[in-house]
Amino acid sequence: MSKSGTTAFTRRRFLASAAATAGLGLLSNNVAHSESRKVRNISLKVGSGLAQITANPAQKTAVWAYNGSVPGPEIRVRQGDRLQVAFENNLKEETTVHWHGVRTPNAMDGVPHLTQKPIAPGARFTYEFDAVDAGTFWYHPHQHSTVQVGRGLYGSLIIEEKTPIVVDRDVTWILDDWRLTDKKQISNDFDHWHDISHNGRIGNVVTINGRVPTAFTVRKGERIRLRLINTANARIFGLNFNGHKPTIIALDGQPVAPHAPDGDLVIVGPAMRVDLILDMTGEPGSRHPIEDNFYRRLSYRLINFVYAKELLRTTVLTSPITLPKNPLNEPDLEAATRHTITFRGGMMGAMVERQMAGKQSGMMMGGGMGSMRDMMHSKKIWLINDVAAEGHIMAPMLTLKRGTSYILTMTNMTAWHHPIHMHGHSFRVISRNGKPTSHKEWQDTVLMESRERVEIAFVADNPGDWMFHCHILEHMAGGMMGVIRVT
Ligand code: C2O
Ligand code: CU
Repeated sequence: MSKSGTTAFTRRRFLASAAATAGLGLLSNNVAHSESRKVRNISLKVGSGLAQITANPAQKTAVWAYNGSVPGPEIRVRQGDRLQVAFENNLKEETTVHWHGVRTPNAMDGVPHLTQKPIAPGARFTYEFDAVDAGTFWYHPHQHSTVQVGRGLYGSLIIEEKTPIVVDRDVTWILDDWRLTDKKQISNDFDHWHDISHNGRIGNVVTINGRVPTAFTVRKGERIRLRLINTANARIFGLNFNGHKPTIIALDGQPVAPHAPDGDLVIVGPAMRVDLILDMTGEPGSRHPIEDNFYRRLSYRLINFVYAKELLRTTVLTSPITLPKNPLNEPDLEAATRHTITFRGGMMGAMVERQMAGKQSGMMMGGGMGSMRDMMHSKKIWLINDVAAEGHIMAPMLTLKRGTSYILTMTNMTAWHHPIHMHGHSFRVISRNGKPTSHKEWQDTVLMESRERVEIAFVADNPGDWMFHCHILEHMAGGMMGVIRVT
């Protein structure tokens, strides 16, 4: 399809869906003010490049990059704007761009085969969609993701509120890790069996915005909005801001009642985002290590906050930090239709299932070690409702009716964490292990612990076939994905 053909097609699709959406009273704000929308033209080219990941200037790492840099350019627009992204593929393989967390029309979602034809080497594609929700989002390929994201393809997409909250600095930290060889080149052992069956490809070098971090200079009295984005294939971060009191104001781009993190640890699973307000209360000249303590015995210092000699103000700001709501449809929990989803498989999964069966009598157990051996052969070892996906095209695991509220009860019967992501929608996390959550947070990716049961609720208001998968990219490659159809 030619570039203009694509755009025309997109517009028709968009207008059709906008009209239908207006009929349901969804997202009506954006439709009503369409004439005042600003169109933001962005060009994105993907190809190979060289990145300065480590501190040694003589040591460059061969990467894949958007517009030649890792991370790719930060795309910053205002809520209500329309994005028009002219994309060109200069890789030697097919790719797509997925706008993680953004509620785009289905045709713009960037899932190869399912929502669009993969973009061939040398080909172009124009993505066009509205910035419906304000918040912190990101973009990445959805094709051959373990390798393409693992080699450096990701960037932030910041959608500013129409009236932003007052801060001294708005800072984005893209957290990632890399598996580098002694020569500081990306290790080629992608899709390794051990990574697929355990906790994914965990790297040996952690970066912030593509660089091994050293110091972050701050001033006493300063108020920073820190947008954390985890773009790692598999690593989960648990940040301790030693001596500072971070306040969480948004999760996965969506506003949440401002609150302190549980146990002072800011947890960011793969693909997840956390927006923090940090008031800098340290003394001028002081230095504070920020640590990642997620994996208990493997904690390390991520970066130092270094206070400048001059302070900014003697007190902290007291202006409001509650973000304005996004136009999300509130699920009707009383009337909601319920479905259950069970995650199984992976190393030691059979053991977890046996143990959980002891507690949940009457539950049927499949699997076991015999079938595990068969699954090892095909590398498809993670199951959603007993199905391991072979690619992006499959029969929908659920078909939902547009405009209806749903509650999905999800059980993690595996020995591992899984950040579970749904495309095209945000959902409220309403309970964990039967206990209501205190913030009913909106998320697009929910981190589930081993054996945990999580309930999510949402209105199926975006028509199309949407991916539903684990965002540990090796788990996804190992079959942990499905399709949810909204008709
Ligand atoms: Cu971040 Cu299915 O994607
Ligand atoms: Cu997983």
